[in-house]
Amino acid sequence: MSNVVIVGTQWGDEGKGKIVDFFTAHADAVVRFQGGNNAGHTLVVKGQKTILHLIPSGVLHPKKICVIGNGVVVDPKILLEEIRALKGAGYLKNEKSLRISELAHVIFPYHQAIDQGREAAKGDAKIGTTGRGIGPCYEDKVARRGIRLAEFIHPEIFAARLRAILPERNAYLESVLRIKPFDAEVLLKEYAPLAAEIRPYVADVGELLRDWAKKKRHLLFEGAQGTSLDIDHGTYPYVTSSNTVAGYAACGSGVGPTEIDQVVGIAKAYTTRVGGGPFPTELQDATGEYLRKQGDEFGSTTGRPRRCGWLDLVVIRHAMRANGLTSLTLTKLDVLSGLKTLRICTGYRLGGKTMKTVPPTVEALQQVQPVYQDIRGWDEDLSGVTRWKQMPAAAKRYVERVETLLGLPIISVSVGPSREQHIVLKNPFK
Ligand code: GDP
Ligand code: IMO
Ligand code: MG
Repeated sequence: MSNVVIVGTQWGDEGKGKIVDFFTAHADAVVRFQGGNNAGHTLVVKGQKTILHLIPSGVLHPKKICVIGNGVVVDPKILLEEIRALKGAGYLKNEKSLRISELAHVIFPYHQAIDQGREAAKGDAKIGTTGRGIGPCYEDKVARRGIRLAEFIHPEIFAARLRAILPERNAYLESVLRIKPFDAEVLLKEYAPLAAEIRPYVADVGELLRDWAKKKRHLLFEGAQGTSLDIDHGTYPYVTSSNTVAGYAACGSGVGPTEIDQVVGIAKAYTTRVGGGPFPTELQDATGEYLRKQGDEFGSTTGRPRRCGWLDLVVIRHAMRANGLTSLTLTKLDVLSGLKTLRICTGYRLGGKTMKTVPPTVEALQQVQPVYQDIRGWDEDLSGVTRWKQMPAAAKRYVERVETLLGLPIISVSVGPSREQHIVLKNPFK
């Protein structure tokens, strides 16, 4: 048996969705364990592009089961929109092929209002959140004033909880953010039918996973965001509000950590970041523009242009440790074609010293100077390369250099957005 966790090693958008879709062929179920619809995971299968925000990236494989774990925050409207669109496209034919944890917390419009209101009030100091209410929903969970699907799907319990919680949230909205309060009765009227529609998908996911583990089924845990956006291990406060690291796959789904066998990190062959916060290898020049254009680096959730820069191995080494990575997949190698010289950041300089780890404050991270190793680029188009043997020598050298500098095996390389544009050197399920 092999249970595999796939996580982002940078600031999100590493191509996790594409790689999860690919390896789903070897799994029985795909499990999301954190985040919410701040995520945008893009799959391109038979020329058809699908962007998923909440539903696991295994959904295009009809025989596999998709699971949303307790660590995810669920926006009922987005969930139902996604279910309807997938059903319309011929997927999710059976309700049992999507199981959602009864312990997952629900996002309501007051979470979005707080998220957006706070960002507006911060002006230039804003985090650059996706505005989807993710942070405020996790806040309510920790403050023990959240509503979980278990409560949401029972009309009387839902009504009682919402009526008890809302006055405090409204007071905050009105007095601090100067935003119009919400009426509990109006929300109940709007959300009770959504709850009824979601109800058939709600399950005791922890027990389900235990049962599958006993039967030696293969589980694929799909991370959202990336390690540098983790609430503990990321570039705080410019982070998301959940733990994105592999350890949370256990906590956010209800299995024990001993169920996890392999942890595959996904790294883009360069670096991107969307939203605010420090980014040592950022390129605010023609090369950065080239990467954005070649890599089509615009957010899948908000459409914002992504900030682009060179590959930063300090960031990835940090992800190796925080996730216990057993291997790495390198994506978007094709995007680097046409650049004469490529740079790989191997350390940072700060105050006359060289460091190999990410400093804990954004103040320090904003000041570090990247230390680069230069390596020759290549002109060949990689998008049609299907075997490692066909890979141009300079591109091979780039991948091998990364592998050597990290001391971590690279098990696959992605050379385009489509499912088949993926060269697998070793399958983590085998
Ligand atoms: P995720 O959030 O980690 O799943 O990544 P996103 O889907 O937000 O962003 C990755 C983008 O790169 C998507 O538009 C993918 O279709 C695309 N993509 C994934 N892998 C490759 C690749 O190897 N080459 C190219 N050119 N595009 C890729
Ligand atoms: P995927 O799964 C890239 C970023 C936002 C912002 C910060 C906080 O597609 O890789 P939030 O709305 O979570 O409170 O925003 O985190 N962010 C992402 N950036 N990819 C994502 O997800 C992201 N999810 C959140 O841009 O900087
Ligand atoms: Mg994304």
